[in-house]
Amino acid sequence: MRAFALFFALVFSLCAEAHAEDGYNLWLRYQPLAASQASYYRRHATEIDADCSTPTLGAACNELQRGLTGLLGRPIPIRPVAGSGTRDGAVVLARTGQNALGGGGYAIRADRVRGRQVTVISANRDIGLLYGVFAYLRLIQTDHKVDALDVHDAPRYALRVLDHWDNLDRTIERGYAGPSLWDWAALPKIDQRYIDYARADASVGINGAVLNNVNADPKILTPEYLTKVAALANAFRPYGVRVYLSVRFSSPVELGHLKTADPMDPTVQAWWRSEADSIYRLIPDFGGFVVKANSEGEPGPWDYHRTQADGANVIADALASHGGTVFWRAFVYSATKEDRAKQAYDEFKPLDGKFHSNVIVQVKNGPIDFQPREPFSALFGQMPKTRVGLEVQLTREYLGGDDGIVFLAPMWSETLDSDTCSPRCRTPVKNTVTAMAGVANIGSDRNWTGSNFNQANWYAFGRLAWDPSLTPAQIATEWTRMTWGNDPRAVKPTVATMLNSREAVVDYMTPLGLVHQFQNDHHYGPAPWSCNLSFPSWNPCYYNDANSGGIGFDRTKTGSDAVDQYAPPVAREFAGLNTVPEKYLLFFHHLPWTQRLRSGQSLWDSLVVHYDRGVQQVQANRRTWSELAPYIDRERFAQVGSDLDRQVLEAWWWRDASIAYWQSLSKLPLPPGHSSPAHALSYYQSIHFDAVPGFKVPRIDTRTLCVAGRGGPKCAL
Ligand code: GCU
Repeated sequence: MRAFALFFALVFSLCAEAHAEDGYNLWLRYQPLAASQASYYRRHATEIDADCSTPTLGAACNELQRGLTGLLGRPIPIRPVAGSGTRDGAVVLARTGQNALGGGGYAIRADRVRGRQVTVISANRDIGLLYGVFAYLRLIQTDHKVDALDVHDAPRYALRVLDHWDNLDRTIERGYAGPSLWDWAALPKIDQRYIDYARADASVGINGAVLNNVNADPKILTPEYLTKVAALANAFRPYGVRVYLSVRFSSPVELGHLKTADPMDPTVQAWWRSEADSIYRLIPDFGGFVVKANSEGEPGPWDYHRTQADGANVIADALASHGGTVFWRAFVYSATKEDRAKQAYDEFKPLDGKFHSNVIVQVKNGPIDFQPREPFSALFGQMPKTRVGLEVQLTREYLGGDDGIVFLAPMWSETLDSDTCSPRCRTPVKNTVTAMAGVANIGSDRNWTGSNFNQANWYAFGRLAWDPSLTPAQIATEWTRMTWGNDPRAVKPTVATMLNSREAVVDYMTPLGLVHQFQNDHHYGPAPWSCNLSFPSWNPCYYNDANSGGIGFDRTKTGSDAVDQYAPPVAREFAGLNTVPEKYLLFFHHLPWTQRLRSGQSLWDSLVVHYDRGVQQVQANRRTWSELAPYIDRERFAQVGSDLDRQVLEAWWWRDASIAYWQSLSKLPLPPGHSSPAHALSYYQSIHFDAVPGFKVPRIDTRTLCVAGRGGPKCAL
């Protein structure tokens, strides 16, 4: 009786939710399918035959019932597997023993069981069944036929982790989606949102969550916080999401009141062991620690003249007997004279083979810092005796925050598919790494990610960490169908927009291999002229090296020789003016403004063309979106429209400010057909967002952009 009441309550709540298109349900909307589709799937999904007795199986059963009920618009009952006989159209969840599926894999097959036509979702472990359920629902959501299904899938990497850069006061470093999801004051009380977060992670195969900022507060390891962390771990466990924490290297001093945090000191080693033991008493499946050491002011082993490996190993040893992992970040650089792009490699490459087996060296995709485009880090493929993880950033720190649409799968695939030529050519980055970590873009905004389209980057991260050979087009198509519906008149233009969006942002911000031209600190808006910070590599001028003679950072033999860090075939390609991919040109070469490029255009003309191409693309995307009104619910349609309005303004601002500055150096006329910046250079130089109160967790003020840009729909108000 109680089960029935719950079931009808679920159906009722789904109906009530059907109207609320505020983005909360992400790609798990389960809206009723069109009549013809629904009648097809109803024949193939009449009931669920499953054992729902463990927490994870319970989650799988609930999700399947919720999904099918929503999509098919009618209640779908659950029967115990051992019940009174399978019926035609049953969806059966079955534990199996297929080695190829491993721990997280699943199979989905159309089959005959006891003379009945059924769909069998099978896996070795409960979590595989949950992943299989999400995959099966995805097939229906994206309008795949299910009568001849024969799908086998297993995750490529064992660790697929989101790194939340969330502080204990609920601000988020580089967060654009409101305050942190983790309400530390209310925890250990569990909010439904935590469960929905874990569901969303599991739906794309994410199996770890680092709860706090890499610039870690030692307080996270106090008993008070660990109780709260344990509550989150309990909430996430049914969904296969293990909890990790970022820890501060100097915690033994700050928390343990030791005199030192020297990793070779036995009291320090004992402290980490006892800390780990107490965490595992509370959280038996605790994932482990993330450490940012000797980077951007954080303490680390160098403070005690120890290597990064010494530091990592001592913390890893404390976790080893519990099965925990240390993600040790390779993001180190300091204010030395050495090219920043070389520093992580210089530190870590000589340590290859020195890290213990439960350490993963976590390397950002590029050698600088999550720029709109960078070549892949030279560390990939060059630490063969070390477990290396790829770190990407979902939150768009250097890509406009939550302005407009920027779909990041093309950027991540570009890295994953880059050929390291190490140990031989045709060894793409994706074959050299053993884990993926993504800096989360999630906050407590109702739509989770600050903009509806930023959700696609959460989705894409999970999908690529599961299967790095998926193409951006496949991922964008899946996500679009699940998030916006299956009408081809909406799917096609939406996918096309997503796929062009990353190149557009590169074009209007930092074309032809430029990087780091951002206003200082908050990294929003252009400041290529900026040169007054005492830390040299925080200055845009460091990276553009622009003057009246030319522009670009010479990383060939005549410059910093960073190219030499790559395997010889890659080094040759990047070093040669005739071979370097144009997209990396100014990352590796300093060239005169008048340099003729392989396209036949001069460098100066080509730069201007790229900026304009970016602006035009964003304007075209805005127009495309405005034509989708008939297919999109009103609330989300309006939100995306205003996000794109901001992006159009932002693109003009970048284009005008950058061209104004470069032209003040090159003194060259704009190529025919390209308009002059709207204002004089001094105008752009006077825009300082630092003056906007509360900017650290920004909502970009459109009025400020209107002043800076060229007008547009918002500015007419
Ligand atoms: C960037 C970012 C910082 C962050 C750092 C990191 O530099 O701007 O906010 O702490 O990356 O990855 O640790």
